[in-house]
Amino acid sequence: MEKKFKRHLVTAALPYANGGVHIGHLAGVYVPADIYVRYLRLKGEEVIYICGSDEHGVPITIKAREQGCSPQDIVDKYHKLIKDSFSEFGISFDIYSRTSSKIHAQTASEFFRRLYDEKVFIEKESEQFFDTEANCFLADRYIVGTCPKCGNEGAYGDQCEKCGSTLSPNELINPHSKLSGSQPVKKLTKHWYLPLDKYENWLKEWILEGHKEWKTNVYGQCKSWLDGGLQPRAVSRDLDWGVPVPVEGAEGKVLYVWFDAPIGYISNTKELLPDDWEKWWKSPDTKMVHFIGKDNIVFHCIVFPTMLKAYGDGFILPENVPANEFLNLEGDKISTSRNWAVWLHEYLEDFPGQQDVLRYVLCANAPETKDNDFTWKDFQTRNNSELVAIYGNFVNRAVVLTHKYFGGKVPAVTELRDEDRAVLEQIPQIKEALENSLNSFKFREALKDAMELARLGNKYLTETEPWKLAKSDMARVATILNVSLQICANLSIAFTPFLPFSSAKLQKMLNAEGLSWSAFGGASLLESGHQLNPAELLFAKIEDSAIEAQIEKLHRAKEENARKAAAESEAAGTGSEVVPQKAECTFDEFEKMDIRTATVLEAVRVPKTDKLLQLTIDTGIDRRTIVSGIAQYYTPEQMVGRQICILANLAPRKIRGIESKGMILMASEQGGKMRFITPEEIVGNGATIG
Ligand code: MF3
Ligand code: ZN
Repeated sequence: MEKKFKRHLVTAALPYANGGVHIGHLAGVYVPADIYVRYLRLKGEEVIYICGSDEHGVPITIKAREQGCSPQDIVDKYHKLIKDSFSEFGISFDIYSRTSSKIHAQTASEFFRRLYDEKVFIEKESEQFFDTEANCFLADRYIVGTCPKCGNEGAYGDQCEKCGSTLSPNELINPHSKLSGSQPVKKLTKHWYLPLDKYENWLKEWILEGHKEWKTNVYGQCKSWLDGGLQPRAVSRDLDWGVPVPVEGAEGKVLYVWFDAPIGYISNTKELLPDDWEKWWKSPDTKMVHFIGKDNIVFHCIVFPTMLKAYGDGFILPENVPANEFLNLEGDKISTSRNWAVWLHEYLEDFPGQQDVLRYVLCANAPETKDNDFTWKDFQTRNNSELVAIYGNFVNRAVVLTHKYFGGKVPAVTELRDEDRAVLEQIPQIKEALENSLNSFKFREALKDAMELARLGNKYLTETEPWKLAKSDMARVATILNVSLQICANLSIAFTPFLPFSSAKLQKMLNAEGLSWSAFGGASLLESGHQLNPAELLFAKIEDSAIEAQIEKLHRAKEENARKAAAESEAAGTGSEVVPQKAECTFDEFEKMDIRTATVLEAVRVPKTDKLLQLTIDTGIDRRTIVSGIAQYYTPEQMVGRQICILANLAPRKIRGIESKGMILMASEQGGKMRFITPEEIVGNGATIG
């Protein structure tokens, strides 16, 4: 028997306040959680949705140092940006607070103190890297050295970003401090450890026996952690940014960010409901669900539950942790530092008012069971051929025809035929499927169910063709439009959790705001004679040019990255480092490339860019345009008359609206500027190279 709960406590991972929110965050955590919460609210369930910024941790201190400001400045800036983005996208938290709040410091500190007093922690001294010039211990991220696996000289003490290996600072060759550049020494320091090993059996029982219903990716990760054996984990750090460790002799030490952050869920609930928070956290009638990304699984399924269990005092544990996998962008891992992302605040500038389109695409494509890819082409297709062509088209036809034939009043049913009944009967079935999907956190499936209803309506109208019957059989038209409008009303409910803005718009059009979930499934949500408001389009077509602009933006991010990486490695004195050999290619593949000599006839800067030159060149076969990202190295004047080599048969590509046919061959050293490849002496244009 499934347990019946009185209320739902839904949490979404607290995002780090060191960057904006991108589509990966939204698809993985906040959209699914928001759908779930909106669904529960619509059903009249008692629910709170808790989130806030995670404002501690080393990356924030590093960012502050880089930007020459304080960590508080950094988190103030990003907390606001993140909070605004969420609210613009309709992510309906009951509270979005922050871990730099006073109430959080108190709560986290009290939590630690109690575990400390009850002798839960192990106290241990260990050797850590210490910077004698900066006079402080170094977090793993503050130690840089050569990666033992790939030779990258800029690897961090916890990870090499070039080859992706997880490292410990001890493995780095020639480690040095990011703070002073000096070689760090080992020094003893004391820390407190949460003895996860002592809770291993309990965790096995609770998760492996008790929660076999968890998603396979989540259950599988827990199982592999538990099978591998758990170790005590340090919950304090030597750092000057965070919640101070509240015991004697802990000067200069703070709580480890992964100890304080999940307690943020509790502090934020306290802030929201100062007098009433305990019933949410300490009553077995509360169902707690954590929405997170896959990199957070161990903390939410193993570490935080152990903390709650060790604390006791009636704290509940999560009933479910529906973690998602990752969303990639155009085939590449999303990365804040490489600016490979679609940022919500930028999306809103380019697609104002189109929040629901992104919510739709991200849910339809959510990485629920495996990593998934977001592409702008898919975004366009889903908008144009699903939202516009099916859902929007159906609603528009139903409402427009009602205005045309019945003055915008819902016409009465004259007589239901089999085809009408068949359609109406499917509505409660779709509702049931949708509820089952939502209850089991299958949001993609649930969205498909909702879309199925729109498809059904669209097909019904297309098959019954009321516009053709208008001359001969107005009674039949009335029935068809009544049925269609009932479907519209049902759609507005079905889509509310997913597309809150469009649903509100639709309900306004139907003059039926605030339809409840219990109405969903019915065949008479709108009474005959009920007056509709004027028709409005729910969705707008997205043109190719808008998509091209986005793809172009990503190309620029990539170019910018390459330049930055080059400049950095030059600054680090590694400018001579060479790129490893690429994967083998066959002679035939090489032969496909048409490489030839050409001469630059004209060169102008592409307006409003600082990197692009537009070149007119003579290839011996034609005169053509190539747009090239060399404006930082060569002026237009330096280019005219120069003989160059080009890849002539590269598929044409639009750059800033200019069609570029071909690519100029350049020699680029890592960290160095780019230089042309030219023949040893001037030859005719169109001489082949190979
Ligand atoms: N800031 C973490 C991340 O983005 C998530 C913290 S979730 C919490 O990966 F539970 F610790 F709050
Ligand atoms: Zn490496």
